[in-house]
Amino acid sequence: MIRARIVGTGHHLPQHIRTNAELEKMCDTTDAWIQQRTGIQQRHVAAPGEAASALGAPAAQRALESAGITAADVDLILCCTTTGDYQFPATACVIQELLGITGTPSFDVNAACSGFMYGLATADAFIRSGLYKTILLVGTEVCTNRVDYDKRDTAVLFGDGAGAIVLRAEEGERGVLTTHLWADGSGREVLWLPAGGSKIPVTRDNVDTDLNTIHMKGKELFKRAVTEFVACTKVACDAAGISMDDVALFIPHQANIRIIEAVGERIGLPAERIFVNIDKVANCTAASIPLALDQAVRADRIADGDYVLLASFGAGLTWASAIVRW
Ligand code: UT7
Repeated sequence: MIRARIVGTGHHLPQHIRTNAELEKMCDTTDAWIQQRTGIQQRHVAAPGEAASALGAPAAQRALESAGITAADVDLILCCTTTGDYQFPATACVIQELLGITGTPSFDVNAACSGFMYGLATADAFIRSGLYKTILLVGTEVCTNRVDYDKRDTAVLFGDGAGAIVLRAEEGERGVLTTHLWADGSGREVLWLPAGGSKIPVTRDNVDTDLNTIHMKGKELFKRAVTEFVACTKVACDAAGISMDDVALFIPHQANIRIIEAVGERIGLPAERIFVNIDKVANCTAASIPLALDQAVRADRIADGDYVLLASFGAGLTWASAIVRW
């Protein structure tokens, strides 16, 4: 059977680290509140003009290097982002140019915090169909310039960064075993950025209003996240024919340490089998899982043959899960 095997991973973080202490000077918050309620100690912040492609391209380059291939070997580039360089064209096309290639099909996937998981399912389907053999999948976000520093609930939550993987068609039992995707559009205003699309175009009148920044109903999102994470991780294990005990490492989307701990407790996974980096990078939306995956690989947290569980929940609402056999 042909499967999509992850043969390379990489990540890139912007240079500037914004600590909670720095945020205390920018908005009405405290280091103690942020750490207690979210688990976040710091986040990386892109410089002015440092767009999603500028983070995504070096992450992609590292993933290509770790796969031992060059950009010319890639059949398809998928970029998962909600904070792409432009309204259009796709950030995947910008990354293609930065990688020095041309001709390779390239497009974006927008499923917010579940973007990488939707991209993974798309890449997996392309590979299993036989259409493409080598796919570069990038998650990249610059969220910190989309928040309003007068809204302390969202101002402290997000970080900027990018992660990337290379998937290759291979015969055998290794690779992406299952992917499951869900959405509930009736919850689209639980986490959203209202202006800038065709519904509320940016105009002179609304350019300086909070329509141009992220809005979030945090408590509602929190409760729904825990419920869906628990359900979708169980679906993933059942579909792969494994039990939670077989999962060597769970890499959840990093939205809040309390969500991660609540889910771990409910699905019966001990902390040492759950990857956490929210303390250092905060919520990097669609970049969160590939960034964590690369850090886990480079820290030798994943061994050959391991079952890795991935799951996300975010705006849309969207949620997703997958099992990868390493
Ligand atoms: O990645 C997509 C998915 N995202 C999520 O899943 C996010 C889910 N939600 C959350 O992580 C949490 O709901 C938050 C971290 C956003 C908020 O935590 P919470 O425990 O739900 O706090 P809350 O909204 O109930 O607010 C409690 C208090 C309020 O003050 P009062 O009304 O009790 O006086 C807030 O105004 O905490 C206050 N507060 C803050 N205080 C200091 C809210 N944000 C802050 C802040 N610093 N940054």
